[in-house]
Order: sequence, then C-alpha cells, then structure tokens
Amino acid sequence: MNFVNIGALDEFPDEGMRQVMVRGEPLGIYRVGESVYAIHDVCTHEEAFLTDGEFDADDCEVECPRHGSRFNVANGDVRILPATKPVASYQVKLEEGNVLVGPQKV
Ligand code: FES
Repeated sequence: MNFVNIGALDEFPDEGMRQVMVRGEPLGIYRVGESVYAIHDVCTHEEAFLTDGEFDADDCEVECPRHGSRFNVANGDVRILPATKPVASYQVKLEEGNVLVGPQKV
C-alpha cells in the first residue's frame, strides 16, 4: 500500500498531536522532535478520540479522555487499563520535510 503525504513536518507541533483523516480513517499523529508516530485515533475501550486526551511526549504515551487508558503511541500497546486491546499503529516516514503515513504495522 502506498504512503500518503499528510503535510509538512513543521505543521505538526513538536511534542504535540493532531487528528488527520487518512484513507477515511481517523489517525492520531504524534510528534517528538524528528520522530513522528501514527496510531488509530479511536480508543479500543469505548468511543473516544485519543487526540482529545493528553499526550505525554516524555513517555511517548497518550491518555484517553474518557476513562484514562494509556497507549504507547510508538506501537499502539496498552499501558494502563481499562482498555485491553492495542490500537492499530501505522508506518511513518519523513521525506523532504513531509510526513508520509503508510500501511498498518504488523
Ligand atoms: S473510552 Fe478510552 S478508556 Fe474508555
């Protein structure tokens, strides 16, 4: 599957997050310096956008706004319950100052 250009790295605030629609799916894009991560933006516990929660760039972790589950934004793994399933994580690469999102990691 091809990579999709979602914009210039400069459009993503350092140590910040933003929701972007990619191929019809809401993804959360997280930036820490020159590293960018993409995970599905809907919490696996109930319905909530993770990008409405809190991003802790030091721990590379987002906290769900509804019940406080925490996910590793680098790979989608659950760090804190009540969610038990990881969120999907997507390949990301930087090319000529742009952020490109690829297929789901397996
Ligand atoms: S909806 Fe995210 S922890 Fe419940």
